[in-house]
Amino acid sequence: MQQVNLGMIGGGTVGSGVYHAWAQNGDLMAARLGVELAFRKIAVKAFDEPRPYPIPQSLMTTDWQEVVNDPQIQVVIELVGGTGIAKTMILAALAQRKTVVTANKALLSAHGPELFAEAAKSGANLYYEASVCGGIPIIKSLREGFVANQFPAIYGIVNGTCNYILTRMKHEGADFADVLADAQKQGYAETPPDLDIDGKDAQHKIGILASLAHGFWVDHHAIHTEGIRDVSKLDMQFAGQLGYTIKLLGIAKQAASKSAIGNRKSAIQVSVYPTLIPNAHVLASVNGVFNACFVRGDVVGDTLFYGRGAGKDATASAVLSDVVDAALDLKLGGKVRVPPFVAHAKNGRVLPMDEIVSRYYVRLSVVDKPGVLAKISAIFAAAKIGISSVIQPEGHEGESVPLIMMLHDAPNAAMRKALAKISKLPFVKGKPVMFRVESFE
Ligand code: HSE
Repeated sequence: MQQVNLGMIGGGTVGSGVYHAWAQNGDLMAARLGVELAFRKIAVKAFDEPRPYPIPQSLMTTDWQEVVNDPQIQVVIELVGGTGIAKTMILAALAQRKTVVTANKALLSAHGPELFAEAAKSGANLYYEASVCGGIPIIKSLREGFVANQFPAIYGIVNGTCNYILTRMKHEGADFADVLADAQKQGYAETPPDLDIDGKDAQHKIGILASLAHGFWVDHHAIHTEGIRDVSKLDMQFAGQLGYTIKLLGIAKQAASKSAIGNRKSAIQVSVYPTLIPNAHVLASVNGVFNACFVRGDVVGDTLFYGRGAGKDATASAVLSDVVDAALDLKLGGKVRVPPFVAHAKNGRVLPMDEIVSRYYVRLSVVDKPGVLAKISAIFAAAKIGISSVIQPEGHEGESVPLIMMLHDAPNAAMRKALAKISKLPFVKGKPVMFRVESFE
């Protein structure tokens, strides 16, 4: 049987998970593929670094260049992470015409075009299934399973940490800060947690999905990103009363844009923000650390992917699926898969957030006195923003009360300006809270 030789850089949690899964199911994979997969070298930080599964000493080296420069190694798996040395490693492997498999979403997000250009130049492939949604085969599905589709909309719960925190806030009626502190104590959230809770990790992932789906590399600077720090238990409760759940959604969709001209399909919304989603929608039931992607194809219709977005075993499953694609490329004598990334859209562009039209949830703290609602409504009316429902819990006249409004479709620019005016009204206390509402239509 033909053999494909593998080298891996990174022998910690995920790396040892990949080795373990290969040791467990390598024979099965070989039987399915008709190609034997053999590990030759694994570069580690230190032979005795803590790892959940053992790696044989005979495979280990502390010099990553030994992996990249080994002429027998045909596929290099990069699991170092970050945007520094990992980039040097991948470029070095591609320069040697080795296929590269990476889980590195931050690196792809920051340097995707350069890395794919290098891969094209060297004739090698760069695979990245594990970079988005861990074990869910979302990249392969977009790339191959849905190759006959355009993608009007992709909605993803792509950050398990945020989903875990928001789920507990909803179910326990707890505050963000308390749940975050407990999640950190239990190892569900990193310390510091910023990459996850400020939406950066989700930004990397939705950027990768949007790029693949729409055929041009989405610059991460163009992705409007808000994290979950401003979601309060009060908002969770009011959203619940209104029939909604708050989730951090990565969104990539062909957007209705009031000022976009030309080919509307080439202009897309790519964003990350806490979103009110109807409780009846399937994404509202994705709880805890689980990830999900709701993909709408113009041919296939609506589809749903659900699974573990992180962790050594789920990530290993995704890494090994890329290794198999790489091995099939080699077995069949060239790149015969649908390539990992194809820049086919000439006029692709990301719409500025101001041009995106959405519905809104707004919570104000107002002094309860005559004329307050009329003045606020007048500002929305002047901005052509319609009110669809209002909640004001009964309070005492002259005291502060929450005022919750659900608003009809309006461009974000109009909403931003209206809220700036409202926040200056003397009876409006503190900063208005605003979340967008998604109806999935
Ligand atoms: N930190 C990520 C999450 C997993 O919480 O989903 C790695 O991308």
